[in-house]
Amino acid sequence: MPDGSEISYMQSVTPGPDTTREFRDALGRFATGVTVVTTNSEIGPLGITANSFASVSLDPPLILWSPARFSRRYGAFFEAAHFAIHVAGADQKDICDRFSRDGTAFDGTDWQLNDHNVPLLNGFLARFECTTLARHAGGDHGIVVAEVTRATWRKGAPLVFSQGQFGHFKTPV
Ligand SMILES: Cc1cc2nc3c(=O)[nH]c(=O)nc-3n(C[C@H](O)[C@H](O)[C@H](O)COP(=O)(O)O)c2cc1C
Repeated sequence: MPDGSEISYMQSVTPGPDTTREFRDALGRFATGVTVVTTNSEIGPLGITANSFASVSLDPPLILWSPARFSRRYGAFFEAAHFAIHVAGADQKDICDRFSRDGTAFDGTDWQLNDHNVPLLNGFLARFECTTLARHAGGDHGIVVAEVTRATWRKGAPLVFSQGQFGHFKTPV
């Protein structure tokens, strides 16, 4: 149990329309990695920066991520049969910024298509080529569960995102 001194600097809200900012602030305490998700779409190769990626299962090899329904890229990503998740390294903030703003920001990046016409970005810390298995409703987001058909990775430190800011993972604690 926290003692009285800790309670005095905790904040607490019931999430709702009037406390969206505070709820986001609380969620932002959960540090995540940062990924760029790519797929082939009606307008060609498409990418989006996402931190909702999570591992789900080792056997079978499953992952999930959550495209936001408000995004103009939602339809292409929610419906995609095949896509790739690229986990960003500490030195890849710029490319994550670019794909956050612009889904077609492939210029100047090193990439090629896989057998399913999914654009694969080179140089990321890890890459998961995926086939969509299930789509779920998740409030203002969709939830896409997918099977990983190939995993690729290199050595290096991850880019980290927490409380609205990019940062670095420092070890040991
Ligand atoms: C660190 C970070 C994490 C993000 N995570 C997600 C995510 O998990 N899902 C998502 O749909 N958008 C996420 N976004 C927002 C998208 O990258 C994009 O900016 C947003 O969907 C607007 O897309 P639009 O220009 O197509 O409307 C994230 C952005 C940043 C910077």
